[in-house]
Amino acid sequence: MNVTVLVVDTDPLVRDLFLKTVGKWGYIVDTAASGSEGLAMVRQTDYDVVFVNLSLPGMDGQELVGKIREEQPSTEVVVITGYSSVDAAVAAMKAGAYDLVLKPLNLDRIKIIINRCLEKSGLKEESSGEDMSEAEAEKYCYDKIIGKNHKMQEIYGLINSLRNIDSTVLIMGETGTGKGLLAQTIHSNSNRRNDDFVTVDCGAIPETLLESELFGYEKGSFTGALRRRIGKFEQAHKGTIFLDEIGDIPLYVQQKLLRILQERRFERIGGNSTIDVDVRIIAATNKDLKTLVDEGKFREDLYYRLNIIPICLPPLRERMDDLVLLVTKFIGKYRDKLKKDVRTISQDALNAMMRYHWPGNIRELENLLERAIIMTLGKNIQKIDIPGERRNKDIYSFGKIDINQPLKQVKQQIIEQVERKYLKELLNHHRGSINLVARQAKVDSKTLYDKMKKYNYHKEDFKRLDQEESS
Ligand SMILES: Nc1ncnc2c1ncn2[C@@H]1O[C@H](COP(=O)(O)OP(=O)(O)OP(=O)(O)O)[C@@H](O)[C@H]1O
Ligand SMILES: [Mg+2]
Repeated sequence: MNVTVLVVDTDPLVRDLFLKTVGKWGYIVDTAASGSEGLAMVRQTDYDVVFVNLSLPGMDGQELVGKIREEQPSTEVVVITGYSSVDAAVAAMKAGAYDLVLKPLNLDRIKIIINRCLEKSGLKEESSGEDMSEAEAEKYCYDKIIGKNHKMQEIYGLINSLRNIDSTVLIMGETGTGKGLLAQTIHSNSNRRNDDFVTVDCGAIPETLLESELFGYEKGSFTGALRRRIGKFEQAHKGTIFLDEIGDIPLYVQQKLLRILQERRFERIGGNSTIDVDVRIIAATNKDLKTLVDEGKFREDLYYRLNIIPICLPPLRERMDDLVLLVTKFIGKYRDKLKKDVRTISQDALNAMMRYHWPGNIRELENLLERAIIMTLGKNIQKIDIPGERRNKDIYSFGKIDINQPLKQVKQQIIEQVERKYLKELLNHHRGSINLVARQAKVDSKTLYDKMKKYNYHKEDFKRLDQEESS
């Protein structure tokens, strides 16, 4: 099947880039240097994807986008634009463009976008053979994030819509679900990507040092302050600051943080002058901030200030439809890195992984595969290559008990694990029927709804295909 791509741009370098590079990926590439030429070509040929630069002489790009969408609804349009014309880009998206790429052009992004367009229109060629399955895996990635689960796809959409706005983002998710990776990806896809991405691991810095780490200090402000020190907020000026494990910030620092969130200004410790900063704030936590608020450990006003764009990363056990994809990608990654020709994984090894509950999420999976690739003797990872702990375990084995946590908390975590699993099985069994599940669990439907909300279960997700078809 021949996939056809048209690029409409006055810049000969852009047209050349498409002809040479995109052509090499196996697509047929045509080019046009003006809007009217582009439109004439679109009327003649049924292109799969058309890239349109918004600043065109004669007919402007936005008008062209509208015309293509109107006359050739099956053709996907992608807009090429510079930072300066973001408003025009938003208008073009409204006129029906599928996505946009910013100049300077990033080839990886172009590849991903073409793949997504083809997938959307059902044109993507069927995969076959091992190498194709890795190629297949490629289209489900957003930069370094892997995942095709519907929640991940929603998150990709969010990253796109956050590209040109500076709103504060709060990322929530268990350990190893990719909070750090997501924060980095949001930054590197935003218009701040050429400036710094500064990470502060609030959980790892001793409380007494956190304030000076964040805000800096003046010379002589305390014993040992021998010279002025710039804090992380100043370092992140024009860029993004990533406040990891925000739930661990002590209350007195929270107050100062609130002011930065509201006014984007602060004073260094021991300093009199007020400093203005231009930063995008991304925070992450694996704790439930709302509970911390209820317990008086987290300021409510700060919570609302942070919770502007909340993003919940699902734990791996709730996105098992991604397991094969993740395994495929990680085998590819470590095959190259470790220079060991491992290609596949046996079905029973995969089955064992499907049954496991992955408390360490993607990090645990990645580490396990790296180890399995080192251990395995052949090209095919076997169940035996997977550390024994994970082979036979099911949800009722709770992994290592963390004795550093109070008993109450450990018990709570285990109760949540059981509740989660119990509800999932029962919802599955009754195909998402709230009445039947509530009756069998002997809870009222409000309690059931509350718990489903807590674990992010939606009754629609438990319907079976045959139900959807008949309804
Ligand atoms: N969706 C994903 N696709 C590919 N790799 C992922 C994904 N999610 C996480 N990873 C990888 O897993 C590891 C852990 O991710 P990350 O550090 O972002 O998790 P985290 O949620 O910040 O964990 P923690 O709460 O422990 O800090 C990293 O190596 C990361 O690259
Ligand atoms: Mg992290």
